[in-house]
Amino acid sequence: MKIFLDTADLAEIERAAEAHLIDGITTNPSLLAKSAGDREPEEMFLDICRAVDGPVSAEVVAVDAAGMVSEGRKLAAIHENIVVKVPLTEPGLRACRALREHDIRVNVTLCFSTTQALLAAKAGATYISPFVGRLDDIGHDGMEIVRDIRQVYDEYDLETEILAASLRHPRHVLEAMLIGADCATLPPKVLYQSMKHPLTDRGLDAFLADWQSLGKEL
Ligand code: G3P
Repeated sequence: MKIFLDTADLAEIERAAEAHLIDGITTNPSLLAKSAGDREPEEMFLDICRAVDGPVSAEVVAVDAAGMVSEGRKLAAIHENIVVKVPLTEPGLRACRALREHDIRVNVTLCFSTTQALLAAKAGATYISPFVGRLDDIGHDGMEIVRDIRQVYDEYDLETEILAASLRHPRHVLEAMLIGADCATLPPKVLYQSMKHPLTDRGLDAFLADWQSLGKEL
């Protein structure tokens, strides 16, 4: 499963990319607004693309299909790593089809049902982003749609990659892996939580204490 980092924070992106922990980046307008300060979005996307050797999702903000296509083409021209993110609306699916005809990769976002995911795949989406945590937030089992999408895409041989999004804790990451999601996007906090285990820390402390008692150097 590919691991993407869900952030526009360049310092976090550089930290994870330099350690080769991630395969790409996803952003959204909220994440951009959080990290932008006085920087222009194009400049931020370019810096992110230079920091990461992999897909970088950049979202349109137009709500009509022509506007999305025009913004999407501008975003795609920033760097070859850019994947254009469009919302799962009728204009979004129209824009998805049009952008794919220009050979631009598209991530269809804000997916909350399996039928939406089928329609996105039929529109040629490169990635579909089901939002797990936001479904959990309203009392649903968000991971259930990731499971259902996997079944439907396999059943009909659809090539769209499932990008599990809105993941809030390592248990979500584990479940996405077990289901066979193609990618998962993790906020930095969840990436580092997924790496840690108390027994690793305790084991390391014990090894180092035992080594020190030996009084030798490597
Ligand atoms: O990038 C989209 C998605 O991961 C958002 O997550 O936590 O805002 O629901 P969240």
